[in-house]
Order: sequence, then structure tokens, then C-alpha cells
Amino acid sequence: MKLPDGPQAPAVVQTIRGIFQPLEYLENVAQRYGDTFRFRAIGFPSSVILTHPQSIQELFTADPKLFESGKANKIFQPILGEYSLILRDGDYHHQQRRLLTPPFHGERMKAYGEIICQITEKVISQWKLGEPFIARSSMQEISLRVILRAVFGLYEGTRYQQLSKLLSATTDLFNSPFISSFLFLPILQQDFGSLSPWGHFLRQKQQINELLYAEIRERREQFDASREDILTLLMLARDEAGQPMTDQELRDELMTLLFAGHETTASALAWALYWIHHLPDVRKKLLQELETCGNDLNPNTVAKLPYLNAVCSETLRIYPIALFSFPRIINSSLKLMDYEFAPGTMLSACIYLTHHREDLYPQPKQFKPERFLERQFSPYEYLPFGGGNRRCIGMAFALYEMKLVLATILSSFQVSLVDSRPIKPVRRGLTMTPGGGVRMIVTGQRQITRKSLMTQLS
Ligand code: HEM
Repeated sequence: MKLPDGPQAPAVVQTIRGIFQPLEYLENVAQRYGDTFRFRAIGFPSSVILTHPQSIQELFTADPKLFESGKANKIFQPILGEYSLILRDGDYHHQQRRLLTPPFHGERMKAYGEIICQITEKVISQWKLGEPFIARSSMQEISLRVILRAVFGLYEGTRYQQLSKLLSATTDLFNSPFISSFLFLPILQQDFGSLSPWGHFLRQKQQINELLYAEIRERREQFDASREDILTLLMLARDEAGQPMTDQELRDELMTLLFAGHETTASALAWALYWIHHLPDVRKKLLQELETCGNDLNPNTVAKLPYLNAVCSETLRIYPIALFSFPRIINSSLKLMDYEFAPGTMLSACIYLTHHREDLYPQPKQFKPERFLERQFSPYEYLPFGGGNRRCIGMAFALYEMKLVLATILSSFQVSLVDSRPIKPVRRGLTMTPGGGVRMIVTGQRQITRKSLMTQLS
């Protein structure tokens, strides 16, 4: 049994490179040290990065009792709070997942199909012919309204509008590697007043909390068990001792869903729009596929379109929104492939490097949706949503939303990129997003298919 090698640079250097140049740095390190390597980051235990599907499989299928992820996710605490399921392990984590997974799957997910299309229609109706727009901002408006609707059952009204504005402003705050570093380096988390970055963030968070607590209070006072939104579901839940969730637990879980449920999807959609319009052949094939639906451009048909599915899959392969799965800190020694790791080691699957393995994805830097039509990848080879007991609970929902939003846009408008230069990913808080947000312009309208879609919806 051996221990993996890794860069010798001090933790501060590795952390800074990981924040500011994550892709280049990861690629350099993997080239030098191979499939499995050590990485040192400030404030974290000794860490090992996995990029081999076999070791990822062994990690994702190991007994979850062998490791803690919530503890390793403390980086999310300032935003999400200590009761977020992302920061929890054991029974609490397991119960919250069991509660929150069903609303984002199956028939309950499909019930959002029409709403997603209608929200998309509404947001893109603000686009004007010949006027440039930032695709990511529009996509964020859509994904935020969708998740607000799922969580609260509503997205209109003063409180939701305020919440929406504040959530967008808070996530936009981290739209640069510099401000993102405040999340990674607790020493920077100092409140020097509202003009300082962290002070500004804390004040925005305070305002979000006030709105969320006001909503929780109102819902408790006029409780309606027949509502089908997620806040009602959380309020109805009881733990083993028969106790309901406290206000703080509710707030932290709402915040988790609101953040995890819109930031990621917005970036994924902006990337998809970029690739579709950067590569004319991809757009052509996609439009041809949408046209084959004829009058049947309804959500369920759209969700099953193979090329559209392949485009979404390739979008999340080439530049995954999260570079890593959540870290797992092992509590007893663990063997993975040829290695044996000591208790306390933090293990993370690197989604980006796995998705760029030549042996799995020939010419990995090229956007080729066909790969997903030609072969199937295992969940340890293709993992944009992580895996194991922490796999994203919004995976099916996010993919469904991506497909419906893209189909609605492509069948409503003709858009193109303002700039033909390649776009590179940049850090946005804990995720990666297209640099500049993808500037686009409306060049025409496509009424025919849209009408048929709207007939289906009405
Ligand atoms: C394209 C969109 C999305 C991407 C790329 C994405 C990616 C991820 C990843 C990589 C993880 C970590 C999984 C692991 O470590 O194994 C995760 C966890 C999570 N995601 Fe997503 N996600 C997306 C959309 C969503 C949506 C729409 C929701 C809400 C409905 C959501 C809610 C969550 C939650 C609650 C967790 C924590 C799960 C746990 O700790 O058990 N995500 N996501």
C-alpha cells in the first residue's frame, strides 16, 4: 500500500492557485502526479484528489458511516447556516434527503414542466430585437423564479421580489475570484462596515434572513397543510421524537434549496446557450430535432429528445459547474485502489479532471454531444452532480429545467453570440461560470414552433 504524491508548495500557495487558476492548476498537478494526488488547502485537513473512475466508485459506494461530508463543508456555513443538510451528516442528513428528494423527481417534478416554460416565456419576452443581453443574467432570473415557485409555491408579490433581488445580489457579489476568496479564507471574513466586501455580504444576508423568517412566521400563523410547496412539506415533517423543525432549521434548509437550486442551473444554461451558438452544427442539429416534434413540443416530449439530452450532458461534462464533489473526511483508515488512507484524510472526486480523461473522452477539450449518443458512461466516469450518499438531490430537476428552458428559447427566438471568441470558465463563489456571462443578441423571432408550444401549454 502506498500514499499518493502531490505538490510540495505551501498550503497558502496551493489555495491561492486553486482559487484563481483552478483549471490550469489542476491540470498541471494531474499531469505531474497522475490519477490520485495530495493537495493542501488552508483550513482543511490533509486532502487527496481522486480522478480515476475505480477509486471514485470505491468512494461513492463505501458505507457513508465511514466518512463525514457535512463537517468538511463548513465553507458553506456563512451562507447556508449550520442546519443546512449540506453541513450535516448521519441521521439528520439522511432524513432531510429523504424528505427533500421526492419533490424534485417523477410526477411531482413533471408538474413543474408547464411552469418552467411559462416562466421562461415571461423572462425572455423582455429581450428586444437587436439589443444585446447577458445570457447568464436572464438564465438566473429564470432559475430563481423556478426555485422560488417550487419552494414557496409562489414567486410574485413584494416579499418574493425583494427576496429574488437580494438572492441575486448576494450571489453576484461572489462573481469574481477575489471576492470568492473570502469564502475560502476565514481570516478575510471580517465585518469592516457595509462598504467592505464581507460587511456588505453580512448585511445582505441579514435582509434575506428577515424576509425568510417573516415568511416562516406568516406560514405558521396561517398554516395550510394542503399546499404542495416545499416549505409546507418541511413544516409538516417531524423527527423521531415527534418534534417539528425549528425556525432556524427551516431558514437554513430554505436557503440551501434557494442557493443550490438556482446558481448552478443558471450557469449550466448560460454554458449551453454559449455552446449551441458557438458551434453552428450543434445549433442546426438541435433545431432539426426540435422541428421533428412538430405540434408535440410539450414538456414530456422535450425531456426525451436524445440530441438535446446529449447537448446538456456535454455542457456539464466539458466545464462542470462544481469542479469537485463534496469532500469526505474518513473516520477510519480506508483502502481505495492501491492506496490506504489514514483516518482524518479528506477525499474529493475531481469532476473536472475525470471529465477530461483522454481514455474516457477522446479530445476532451472539444464539445462533442455525440459522445453521449455513442456510449453510456458510468456514474463514476460522468459525475457533474457528484455521487454516493451526497449526490445532488436536484439532478433530475436541473436537467429537466435545462431542456425545457433551452427548447423554449430556441423555438421562440433566433439569438447569436455578440463575440465569436472562445469563453473560458471563471470562478463564481464555490462554482465555475462562463466568463463575462455570455453576451448575446436577439436576431429574429421564431413564431411557428412557439405557437405550437403555447397551444400545448394553454
Ligand atoms: C446544473 C445544476 C446543478 C449542478 C451541476 C449541481 C451539482 C451538485 C453537486 C456536484 C453536488 C455535490 C454532490 C456530491 O458531493 O456528491 C450537489 C449537491 C446538492 N445539490 Fe446540486 N446541482 C445542481 C442543481 C441543483 C438543484 C436544482 C437543486 C435543488 C433542487 C440542488 C440541490 C442540491 C443539494 C441540496 C445538494 C446537497 C446534497 C447532500 O449534501 O446530500 N442542486 N449538487
